[in-house]
Amino acid sequence: MLKSIAVMTSGGDSPGMNAAVRAVTRTALHQGVKVWGIKGGYHGMLDEDIFEMQSKDVSDIIQRGGTFLGTARCKRFTTPEGRMLGYKNLVDRGIQGLVVVGGDGSLRGASTLSQETGLPIVGLPGTIDNDVWGSEYTIGSDTAANTILDAMNKLRDTASAHRRIIVLEVMGRNSGWLAMVAGISGGAEYILVPEEEYDISQICDSMKAEYEKGKRYILMVVAEGAGKASELGPIIAEKTGIDTRVSKLGHIQRGGSPSAIDRLNASRLGEHAALAIISGLSDIVFGFNRGHVVSINLHDAVNNKKQLDPQLIRLSKVLA
Ligand code: F6P
Repeated sequence: MLKSIAVMTSGGDSPGMNAAVRAVTRTALHQGVKVWGIKGGYHGMLDEDIFEMQSKDVSDIIQRGGTFLGTARCKRFTTPEGRMLGYKNLVDRGIQGLVVVGGDGSLRGASTLSQETGLPIVGLPGTIDNDVWGSEYTIGSDTAANTILDAMNKLRDTASAHRRIIVLEVMGRNSGWLAMVAGISGGAEYILVPEEEYDISQICDSMKAEYEKGKRYILMVVAEGAGKASELGPIIAEKTGIDTRVSKLGHIQRGGSPSAIDRLNASRLGEHAALAIISGLSDIVFGFNRGHVVSINLHDAVNNKKQLDPQLIRLSKVLA
C-alpha cells in the first residue's frame, strides 16, 4: 500500500479534468493516503510547484471546465535529465506514485518516466480528441462534442436563411472523432476527417447537384487535421458558385462546464486510478469499453493508434 501519491493534469485541458482530480484526491483521502497536487503539468513537477491537498482544495471545481491544477505541454520533460529532476522532486516529498490525466503525449511522458525511474504511474485519458487507444471514451470529449453541436445548430439557422454553404472547422489534429460525432449528431451533409481521403472537386459537384434539386443549405464539418476552413471555403465557393462562409470554433470547444457524462465518467475513472495506484499497480490507463471501466496497459495505450470507428464513417455517408 502506498501512503503518499500525487496527481496532475497535462497537455491540452479538457472539461472534466477537475472532476477526475477531485475523485482521485477524495478517494485517496478516504483511504487515509496523502495526496499532492502538481501545478502546471510537468512544468510544476520540475519547478517544484507541488502542494499537499485536502478535501477542501477540490471543492467547487466539479462544475468548472479547464483544470484548476493548470496544465502545459513541457519541452524540458522530454529529456532524460528533465524527467530525473521531476522524479527527484517527487521522491524528496515522499511521493510514491503518480496519477497523470492527459492525452496521448502526456501519457507517453508518463510511461517513459515510469520505465526510467520505476515510479508507479497510472494514467487517465483526458483530451477532447477521444484518441487514446484502448478506450472508447476520453474525459472532455462529450462536452466538446456538445459545444460543437450547439455551434452547428446556430450555423444552421443562418445557413438556411441565406441558402449558404457553411464550413465549420473543429479541433482534431490527428483524429476525426470530434468532427465525426458532432457532424453526425448535428446532421452535417459533409464531414472531413484526417482518417479518410476526400476529393474536393467531387464534393463540389455533388453540392451543386443537391442545390439544383432544391437543397436550401449545406453544413460541412472539417477536422483541423483534414483541412482548413479558411482554405476550403474559397475553393468551394469558386467551384460551386454558391455563397459560402467559414467558421472556426477554435478553443471555445476546449472550455465550458463539463457535461453530466464527463463529470460522472471522470469521477469513476478517478476513483479507479486512486485505488489502483494506492494498491501498488502501475503502468495502466483506465478507460471505458462498452460502458464499463477497464484497465489498459500504458505502453500499449501510447504505442498504438486508435482508429476511427468505420461504422461511424459509413453512417455519416448514409445519413448525409
Ligand atoms: O487537446 C488536443 C487538441 O484539442 C488538438 O485537437 C488541437 O490541435 C490542439 O489541442 C490544440 O491545442 P493547443 O492550442 O493547446 O496547442
